[in-house]
Amino acid sequence: MNLQHQPFLVTGAASGLGAATAMALAQHGARVALLDRHAEALGRVATGCPTSTCTAVADITDARQVQQAIEQAVDHLGGLRGVVHCAGVAHAARIYGRQGPMPLEQFRQVVEVNLVGTFNLMRLTVPAMAQMEPLEDGERGVIVNTASCAAFEGQIGQVAYAASKAGVVGMTLPAARELARFGIRVVTIAPGTFETPMMENMPQQVRESLLQQIPFPPRFGQPEEFAQLALHVITNRMLNGCTLRLDGALRMGPK
Ligand SMILES: NC(=O)c1ccc[n+]([C@@H]2O[C@H](COP(=O)([O-])OP(=O)(O)OC[C@H]3O[C@@H](n4cnc5c(N)ncnc54)[C@H](O)[C@@H]3O)[C@@H](O)[C@H]2O)c1
Repeated sequence: MNLQHQPFLVTGAASGLGAATAMALAQHGARVALLDRHAEALGRVATGCPTSTCTAVADITDARQVQQAIEQAVDHLGGLRGVVHCAGVAHAARIYGRQGPMPLEQFRQVVEVNLVGTFNLMRLTVPAMAQMEPLEDGERGVIVNTASCAAFEGQIGQVAYAASKAGVVGMTLPAARELARFGIRVVTIAPGTFETPMMENMPQQVRESLLQQIPFPPRFGQPEEFAQLALHVITNRMLNGCTLRLDGALRMGPK
């Protein structure tokens, strides 16, 4: 798919990987709608975009808010060709820590945002993409979801986060199989460790330990490197139904 003038929605667009992807899409001539729950930061990213964008403040777990945001984006952009879904939360807690068992609500909350939120985005964006005119090979749209290497090697304290991201990986193939009849692809990116506010908020000890575990290049990824892969996924039609690791060969240890 050629990105020029194509309409895209990016979630988590107020920060980190989503902001970098929105910027890269706009730089490549796509028309972009930015969605996040943080209005102020979202406005700042939109102002920095080289082409005109629309913004929607919505919580990805809220069916009504997301429906409204998509309607607004489709109206503004004249359709929807794809989604890069980056909104997500990290949470560290042990199943049984010093304070006792992990509160069930914490587990639910992480799964609600990272897994249920991803499904909510997919189910509500597919109808808009399915109505688009088919491009080459009958392609109508593409969904790029974001998991994490924790889906495969969750560390101690990452039970909720790893479960939520493994769910995103698990949805990828059945979603791609089901949506093939509309010409919509589904691909998941599983990042290792990237220099974003999410990573910056982790304790220094955790950051240093993770850094030491990355074989090459021995550094955290830059958000622009995630955006580069997201754009490649969008433009390469043969990528479908798979999860791509982007991690410098990182295989996270127990801690
Ligand atoms: N940074 C990393 O090292 C890394 C590694 C693996 C996976 N990931 C995943 O990549 C994605 C992006 O992470 P990031 O590092 O850019 O984080 P970030 O914290 O910089 O950005 C996440 C954005 O998502 C938004 N968001 C969170 N919950 C939301 C909700 N319910 N509704 C709407 N917006 C919401 C936040 O407001 C924020 O702007 C996340 O899914 C994260 O789990 C990040």
